[in-house]
Amino acid sequence: MHKTRIGRDGPNVSVLALGGASLGGVYQDVSQGEADAVVQAALDAGINLIDVAPYYGLTRAETALGAALKGVPRSDFVLMTKVGRYGDKTWNFSREATLRSLDESRARLGVDYIDVLQCHDIEHGDRRQLIEEALPTLRDLKGQGAIGRIGITGYDLSVLEDVATTEQVDTVMAYCTYSLQDRRLAGVAQRLGRSGVAVFNASPLGMGLLTSKGPPDWHPGHPSVWAAAAEAARRCEALGVDLSFVALQFALQTAAANGIVSTVVGMSKPSNLDRNIEALTTPIDPAVLTAVEAALAPVRDKGWDVLPGGGGKAGK
Ligand SMILES: NC(=O)c1ccc[n+]([C@@H]2O[C@H](COP(=O)([O-])OP(=O)(O)OC[C@H]3O[C@@H](n4cnc5c(N)ncnc54)[C@H](OP(=O)(O)O)[C@@H]3O)[C@@H](O)[C@H]2O)c1
Repeated sequence: MHKTRIGRDGPNVSVLALGGASLGGVYQDVSQGEADAVVQAALDAGINLIDVAPYYGLTRAETALGAALKGVPRSDFVLMTKVGRYGDKTWNFSREATLRSLDESRARLGVDYIDVLQCHDIEHGDRRQLIEEALPTLRDLKGQGAIGRIGITGYDLSVLEDVATTEQVDTVMAYCTYSLQDRRLAGVAQRLGRSGVAVFNASPLGMGLLTSKGPPDWHPGHPSVWAAAAEAARRCEALGVDLSFVALQFALQTAAANGIVSTVVGMSKPSNLDRNIEALTTPIDPAVLTAVEAALAPVRDKGWDVLPGGGGKAGK
């Protein structure tokens, strides 16, 4: 698996990363056996970057990941987790919560050291607390060697870019903003990349939107976006391909040119993992891409900030 560097002097990480939300049962129940299998398959395939958070499955994802990583040499994986989000509508960027969260994550994950510790979904939390408590706490932890790098994550690109440029963070993870349907992250990632910030593209399948199964019922997108994605899936099927595969081909093969260091995909099944690895190198069929882009054109770049949807949650 091809590797790229996090920032100017960070660790080398695989261009395809394993997203841990699935392991928390966010999309469907995942057994420990399934979690073990997909984590081992990812490591075997050369995927060394893994992202998780206390919020995913309300700690279940970290617990499952920790069990799956038991016995794996620490140098075999680069681990990213998060602080600050603890429920659908619960954020806390205080110093005390940040320190406690890191300790709890380390215990669940069975590690002493977190490579990248990220403030989770920063646009929703208290900005003053983020700037005055959480980020300085992460700087202290980095100075002490407890964590390797400081990151921020979220959906609102203007907030992410603003905080990344004023607070000198090492990494930014944005979700659902670089895919066949929404490409707004591209310019932001190029600008941040030039200033040494590593940008990760999370959810290139739009949190299940760009799959033949369609999005989960909590998906925050607008029904017109879901309908366009369903039409794209039908066109793919007619052409004998799977929309998820095309979506991964697009996101993975155009990432580097758009300043994206790694693409973080949720996978709880080794079969999906195998397909996503194939998508890294299988050339996109131009006729398929044209058909899919035509189906998605009416909703291109229409995230739920532009076109509010009807999903059951405010966001993930
Ligand atoms: N704010 C944040 O910090 C933030 C927000 C969103 C995401 N993230 C990170 O990014 C990761 C990825 O996001 P996500 O998991 O929410 O969304 P995603 O990667 O866009 O989609 C995941 C869904 O797609 C399915 N899938 C994966 N590969 C597939 C394939 N080849 N064919 C068909 N279906 C496939 C998965 O199914 P299976 O599980 O059945 O394999 C899962 O249901 C998260 O796990 C998390 O680590 C971070």
